Amino acid sequence: MLRRLYHDQPESFAFTPENQKWAEAQITKYPEGRAQSAVIPLLWRAQEQEGWLTRPAIEYVADMLGMANIRAFEVASFYFMFQLTPTGSVAHVQVCGTTSCMICGAEKLIEVCKDKIADKPFTLSEDGKFTWEEVECLGACANAPMVQIGKDYFEDLTAERFAEILDELCAGKVPVPGPQNGRFASEPKSGLTSLKEFDSGKTQYNASVQLAVDLGDTVKRIDGTEVPILTPWLGKGKPSAPKAKKGSASDTADRSKGRPADETGVSKQAAPAKATAKPEPAAEVAEAEPALLTAPREGGADDLKKLKGVGPKLEQTLNELGFYHFDQIAAWTEAEIAWVDNRLKFKGRITRDGWIEQAKTLAAGEDTEFSKRVDKGDVY
Ligand code: FES
Repeated sequence: MLRRLYHDQPESFAFTPENQKWAEAQITKYPEGRAQSAVIPLLWRAQEQEGWLTRPAIEYVADMLGMANIRAFEVASFYFMFQLTPTGSVAHVQVCGTTSCMICGAEKLIEVCKDKIADKPFTLSEDGKFTWEEVECLGACANAPMVQIGKDYFEDLTAERFAEILDELCAGKVPVPGPQNGRFASEPKSGLTSLKEFDSGKTQYNASVQLAVDLGDTVKRIDGTEVPILTPWLGKGKPSAPKAKKGSASDTADRSKGRPADETGVSKQAAPAKATAKPEPAAEVAEAEPALLTAPREGGADDLKKLKGVGPKLEQTLNELGFYHFDQIAAWTEAEIAWVDNRLKFKGRITRDGWIEQAKTLAAGEDTEFSKRVDKGDVY
């Protein structure tokens, strides 16, 4: 299947403030110089926020990770979980069309999609609320036929019940996901034949459905306020998390383990015993404007992309700010780093990626390991 960017793209993309914090926290999972490893979670969060991956969103993520746009686009276009065309404002419906579901009636569900949404997949319904696609096995074969809507599975469907679910969503209601024929989970339709002592009476629904019901909104766009930003890999006391909403996924998860969450949202007992807490961030440094140039000196600008962490977009930003040469960057003081940092989209990358040390080496006419790779054409 040909996967390419949609012809009609929005002007820009930005994470919501909470999603931005979340994305920056994800990057800290990876060692210095390996921020690109966060490309999939960040693209996914962008999609969760917008419903689909726009070109500006892909570029924004690439820029944030210091990678070439084309590399992020390769990831987005390779994985089918990334939607490159606009999805419905309420929901994108994924109908499983693989063997079990097909035998049990998936084709009828697809007919409902054609009838109620659009004749062709990846096409907005007339009211713009829905899109649909057929997908491969979603791993709920014992509850075939099924569809995924938002984050939830609707199982044991009939065409009639599926049509009702779409109507409910269209009317702004939040239908209860899970089996739609009265089953608790994937036990025999006629009732349990073994493990009869299993007590399912503690919750009304099976665990997945119960959590979805507790959260109360299966198709909400994720703006980052839903759950705390947890960074247990940084050790206790790091950073930033608003407390879990009562009943939210993380709140429920922590309570279910009997481990109270501390004020950061990190479970007290869950903190790894050997966690090596990184030092607290330095206090805000007063900024000072560095010496700026209006144009490169005679002989032309240095290739700032030889600095690990600086991609084409960031190089352009640096040029626009008035930086064209390695020696300019090498000379930045702490206050000047703060000035530049405050004018870049993503704070902290100058020190995190070691720009000053790299720039000193390059300004002295020497190479860094990274600049050698750039010279060899190994870095795009
Ligand atoms: S065949 Fe549909 S979920 Fe597996």
